[in-house]
Amino acid sequence: MPLHSATAHHHSHRHRANPLAVGDDPAAGATLAPPVQRLADRPVPADAAYQLIHDELLLDGNARLNLATFVTTWMEPQAARLMAECAEKNMIDKDEYPQTAALEARCVSILSHLWHAPDPSDSIGCSTTGSSEAGMLGGMALKRRWAARNPDAWRSGRRPNLVMGANVQVCWEKFCNYWEVEPRLVPMEGDRFHLDAESAAARCDEDTIGVVAVLGSTFDGSYEPVAEIAAALDGLQERTGIDVPIHVDGASGAMIAPFLDPDLAWDFRLPRVASINTSGHKYGLVYPGVGWIVWRSKEALPAELVFSVNYLGGDMPTFSLNFSRPGSEVVAQYYLFLRLGFEGFVAVQRACREVAVELAGRIEQLGPFRMLTRGDELPVFAFTTAEDVSAFDVYDVSRRLRERGWQVPAYSFPEKREDLSVLRIVVRNGFTDDLAGLLLDDLGRLLPELSRQSGPLVAPSSTSTFHH
Ligand SMILES: Cc1ncc(COP(=O)(O)O)c(C=O)c1O
Repeated sequence: MPLHSATAHHHSHRHRANPLAVGDDPAAGATLAPPVQRLADRPVPADAAYQLIHDELLLDGNARLNLATFVTTWMEPQAARLMAECAEKNMIDKDEYPQTAALEARCVSILSHLWHAPDPSDSIGCSTTGSSEAGMLGGMALKRRWAARNPDAWRSGRRPNLVMGANVQVCWEKFCNYWEVEPRLVPMEGDRFHLDAESAAARCDEDTIGVVAVLGSTFDGSYEPVAEIAAALDGLQERTGIDVPIHVDGASGAMIAPFLDPDLAWDFRLPRVASINTSGHKYGLVYPGVGWIVWRSKEALPAELVFSVNYLGGDMPTFSLNFSRPGSEVVAQYYLFLRLGFEGFVAVQRACREVAVELAGRIEQLGPFRMLTRGDELPVFAFTTAEDVSAFDVYDVSRRLRERGWQVPAYSFPEKREDLSVLRIVVRNGFTDDLAGLLLDDLGRLLPELSRQSGPLVAPSSTSTFHH
């Protein structure tokens, strides 16, 4: 969350509520002010409080037109109703809400099967608040396993490291920072925008706790070559004896690839893959925030990290950073599994990918853009302005699309390719062909005006990197 400090209140005008929305006495609106710094002395009627906040929130962007986010922006009313019914149930109270706990266990089992755990009854996993927490848990397990393999490492001052591409999501930099692990980031190079097998293996040594492979990359939607990375690490082990496990960050892709790329071996079919995370709130189709992590076997999750809570008179193992959390999202995840089944997921994800591929192709045909990816892995693609375009840049395009309500982020790439700035479009359930056509029309209409600019307007500060 952003860190805030109490600042002086700069508003000089008086706040007044809508006289018709303050309850029985319209004159009360004259004195009703939303507290900005301190609690007000007097309470406000519930309807008036609702209306005031509801009105302020009109300033938020329209979530459905937000092509920047991977996170679910529409669910069926039946799912929303279930979520409202479970908002007051605390996920951690397994004993009080045993059926919510049972639905969570079913979800873990469904994911273990979906990701081809060799023996799903031996795999273990849990829900989290999102992929970030799931990544922290996965990273902690890797670090503990490394410590167990190297009992003298701490005493001799050796520092564990984690190997990954510079394209990893910020949660992995957080993990390394918070848990004091050296991040070994493989930079992008030329037109390689994610981790490759050779560079990954080359950076591993006996203090490497694991390699993070991303399916797919937040920057451009591309899948990292997990099987090739695994093969390169097999080679490393044969040569040196160093055995490095892989954690797959499947925040988005672990809910796409099983349905659309069934022959792609990126999951527990690869013996080196120790754990996988996904965001239930991305292509798991649930509102935020829910994530999942599954370990291929109980052996991959050191037992000392697991805490027990009461459950039906016995104990239930738990692993999490936080404690209390609403049951809503987990129940909604189970709703989606029940509602869609395998075929339903195929239909939903295929529709996204078809829209993405079609839209990417049509944007390419407009002329002034160069595609980095084409939406054929994650239904996500990134593009930049073509070499010969000097009148405008991606930031101008992003700003102008915003005037029509479309939120299409522009951002620069990391180390070694900071020169490259791109636009990215995330196609999610509910972004239909029809809406894609309207976006394309708007983009096409803007281009003549943009081409008449004498040059790009000022780009945002390069320090404002984009993290989602
Ligand atoms: C590859 C990847 N990992 C992790 C995350 C963080 O996920 P969450 O928002 O669920 O914490 C994201 C979010 O975009 C992501 O794309």
